[in-house]
Amino acid sequence: MILWTSILVVSYLLGSIPFGFVLVWMLKHEDVRQTGSGNIGATNVARSGGKGLGLLTLLLDTLKGVAAVLLALHFAPRLNGVPSNLAVAAAVAAVVGHIFTVWLGFKGGKGIATALGVFLALLPMMALACLAVFIVVFALTRYVSLASILAALSVPLFTWLLVPTRAPVLLAGVSFISLLSIVKHHANIRRLLSGTESKFGSNKAAPS
Ligand code: G3P
Repeated sequence: MILWTSILVVSYLLGSIPFGFVLVWMLKHEDVRQTGSGNIGATNVARSGGKGLGLLTLLLDTLKGVAAVLLALHFAPRLNGVPSNLAVAAAVAAVVGHIFTVWLGFKGGKGIATALGVFLALLPMMALACLAVFIVVFALTRYVSLASILAALSVPLFTWLLVPTRAPVLLAGVSFISLLSIVKHHANIRRLLSGTESKFGSNKAAPS
């Protein structure tokens, strides 16, 4: 019980570090939430602070997800190649931390980079397959949001295909993360449908 509570709290707090917000605030003296899409994630940081800062945000947001799951796996290792329930719970807590960060009034990002991190640590093959979906969709359309949504949609499918035991807790956990990220893209979905979503590098995005 103490182990579970500690890991969940630490994972949430790791996920809740709003790297994009902090980097833009410290280096550009701007509130990233007031520019572009208003999101604190790497795409909007790239819009407001440049591609280098966007890349750094992507890296840090991904690494905090990796760290949360690796910590949980240290205390509750995989069994027959399947991540422990504690690791799945840590993954959910880290992504929830990013999306509902306590440091910004529980209004955080959309969870894609942190989800990539937790998935890389939980199920590397699934994460790489979803990353491939992201890269192909982004290369074809230049819409980060569409690539993110389709990659998130493919998470349960690849988990189903790549994890032979189809562990229910694992499937439920990754599907929840995927659903949460997709729901957080509701404004992007509206803009994609109305043809007003901005492509990467165009420097325009309606507020979320
Ligand atoms: O991960 C967020 C990305 O999919 C969309 O970002 O800033 O265009 O809403 P943004």
